[in-house]
Amino acid sequence: MGVDEAVLDAPVDRFELAARPDAPAPPPVPVATPAVLRPEPDGDDLAVRVAQAEALAAQAGTLDALAAAQESFDGIELKKGARNFCFADGNPAARVLILGEAPGDEEDRQGRPFVGRAGQLLDRMFNAIGLSRQAVDAEKSLYITNVLTWRPPGNRDPQPDEIAVSLPFVRRHIELAAPDLIVLMGNIACDAAIGRRGILRLRGNWVEAFGRPALPMTHPAYLLRNPPAKREAWADLLSLSARLEGAGGR
Ligand code: URA
Repeated sequence: MGVDEAVLDAPVDRFELAARPDAPAPPPVPVATPAVLRPEPDGDDLAVRVAQAEALAAQAGTLDALAAAQESFDGIELKKGARNFCFADGNPAARVLILGEAPGDEEDRQGRPFVGRAGQLLDRMFNAIGLSRQAVDAEKSLYITNVLTWRPPGNRDPQPDEIAVSLPFVRRHIELAAPDLIVLMGNIACDAAIGRRGILRLRGNWVEAFGRPALPMTHPAYLLRNPPAKREAWADLLSLSARLEGAGGR
């Protein structure tokens, strides 16, 4: 119920008070801030930051407004160390949205997701099934974004609080872009979207994420380190392609 501390210095026997009609009224009980909303001792106030992110995201009625709102949000420390805000790339009308992890060095320089080595492999993979981020036709295009919009230092894994404050923006981002299908690229995207890790078991199995069909796939950075895994990635791309064709046009 949010009660975790005594509110008065001395105990009050309220049975005793009630029995004495002449007794003074007991002092009012102060209303405490619920523990989840109180700043933690280290000054962190995650619940407040998440609530702010939710309010900002909910107010955004367009992708441009969402980008502006997310860029202005100061509740994420990574913003201070990053060079550029990295919101999305490709065609927002695309039927397929790719959700990656976080910008790396090259993405941070350019302010666009998936433009480094992993991104170049990603482009080649999706080109092989006729999809590209440059395509104007929604049927043939891709829309690409990440769980985090600011680069984590040294490409370390995103921390749970960084994911928590980014998720309200990701949810709204997907709501506004309204793709038919989502690709969850790697463990961090799976963790953020469906609360599960273990990409080597998850990959290739369709799930529901953000209310839409979603396909977990191994991250292209993993494929660069483990080229034999490209065989399964190809099977996943074919599954995506078949689903797009099976589902027909919009
Ligand atoms: N890896 C990601 O997950 N996203 C990027 O934008 C770049 C590399």
